[in-house]
Amino acid sequence: MSPGSLPHWSAARRDFDCLSVRNGVLHVEGMSTLDLADRFGTPLFVFSEAQLRENLRRFREAFAAGWPGPVDVLPAMKANTLLATRRLLSNEGAGADIYSPEELEGVLRTGVDPERVSVNGGGKPREHLRRCVEAGVRITVEDVHEIDVIQEVAAELNATAKIRFRVKPALPNLWRRTDFSLLSIPIDLGIQVYKSGIPPEYLREMGRKVLAMPNVELVGIHFHAGRHHPGLWYWEGMMVRLARLIGELSRAWGGWQPAEIDIGGGFASPRDPHNEEFPRSEFVLTALGYPFLVGLRGLGEKAYHSALSRILSVLTSHKDPKAPPAIEEYGRAVTTVLRRELPRNGIHIEGVRLQIEPGRAMYGDTGIHLAKVKTVKRQTSPIPYTWVLTDTTYFFLAGGVFEHNRHPFVFVADPDAPATQTADIVGHSCYADQIVLGARVPEVAAGDVVAFLEAGAYQESSASNFNSLPRPASVLVHGDDAELIKRAETIGDVYGRDVIPERLLIEEARQA
Ligand SMILES: Cc1ncc(COP(=O)(O)O)c(C=O)c1O
Repeated sequence: MSPGSLPHWSAARRDFDCLSVRNGVLHVEGMSTLDLADRFGTPLFVFSEAQLRENLRRFREAFAAGWPGPVDVLPAMKANTLLATRRLLSNEGAGADIYSPEELEGVLRTGVDPERVSVNGGGKPREHLRRCVEAGVRITVEDVHEIDVIQEVAAELNATAKIRFRVKPALPNLWRRTDFSLLSIPIDLGIQVYKSGIPPEYLREMGRKVLAMPNVELVGIHFHAGRHHPGLWYWEGMMVRLARLIGELSRAWGGWQPAEIDIGGGFASPRDPHNEEFPRSEFVLTALGYPFLVGLRGLGEKAYHSALSRILSVLTSHKDPKAPPAIEEYGRAVTTVLRRELPRNGIHIEGVRLQIEPGRAMYGDTGIHLAKVKTVKRQTSPIPYTWVLTDTTYFFLAGGVFEHNRHPFVFVADPDAPATQTADIVGHSCYADQIVLGARVPEVAAGDVVAFLEAGAYQESSASNFNSLPRPASVLVHGDDAELIKRAETIGDVYGRDVIPERLLIEEARQA
């Protein structure tokens, strides 16, 4: 692979990358992406089996290297709900973080070890809790009254429910800006306004109550804040405050000690696409520049549009993001702080099971999304602009839209072709559908295939059907072969749940 071929800002940080350029064409493992597009059609999600196995291995080893007890990796199912990729992880002995009753059913079908399944989510229905106790999974408690229902269903089943409290420590040490908001808001505030987790004032009483319950065992503590920032300082800051809170709870509960500590997910993936669509400079620039721009109308229409077009290129240009830390660096930072801070707060760490729930960092670089250029559309007046219109849509990359992702992309037949123009790479729904705004692209034409990288997490699992577009197929590459792991939707699937009441059909017939 030549270093200039792929968006490379993170390539140096790992030994294995499923993407490479061979004979001038982008490959996933040993498969040419051109062949994949020919064989399976576009749009298409493509996943690499080798990358997924490699990411799991690295997470395991990185955290085990610094931790005195067992380490479990519980990939977040919401990031990728495909049963084939999930089965692969279950075969490898990975656990799972799941959120809904439906995700629980999905993961249980893949032969996962139930003891390694963390069931998150607020407002869990009684039937779901009953199923959790029956299946023997870990219930991550989010609501104050959940413990009473768990005790009831566990007693009915004559079983012991193993639970953890999902906590939400105060984090005034994390005052820097969260990436989850376009506004300048401290991470601490971002975490506080997120609905998940038990508010601190209930924890002491809930713990005392649970410790006296005959059918419920409090085995640990859970904390997930998400990817507010990719930096190591963010993780170090969270771990300091988490350790302090666990120490306080232990003292309040008569010296209780956790057998398990689950620190959730939120590690950045290697070509971290998160939030690069709207850098802060753009926000500031538009806010300050807006009155000036509008004022330019006084110079006449031509001068106004010419000023707008000049400013546009500034607004839509982006720098390559900084490389996020490698998995090994995250592992070292987290375990170093926990090993130091937990004992300081009276918690014994020998034998404690440490769990992590990576979603984006587990799956992000395992998947790409292939699309074909339908047409290149240009205008020169009143403002020059170019669109590369593709046969996909950002409704198939919806998870990224919510997080303002800026996906790295590659025109697969000639990744080294020099960029000659600025264009928006757009999807074909009737929305603006800007997949990559202000992209620097080579000369491209209808039929060319483009790969959006870092599409393995949250994209396929959040795809929707706007404009009645059938959702694309997914394939799994294994060496120099690829297998279909989810077929594309048909028009029958798209309208399959619709019901036209009989009386409307009769009415239409009468008119005809
Ligand atoms: C409880 C829990 N664990 C893990 C994750 C995965 O987070 P990420 O994809 O940022 O690693 C999520 C995502 O929302 C979550 O809610």
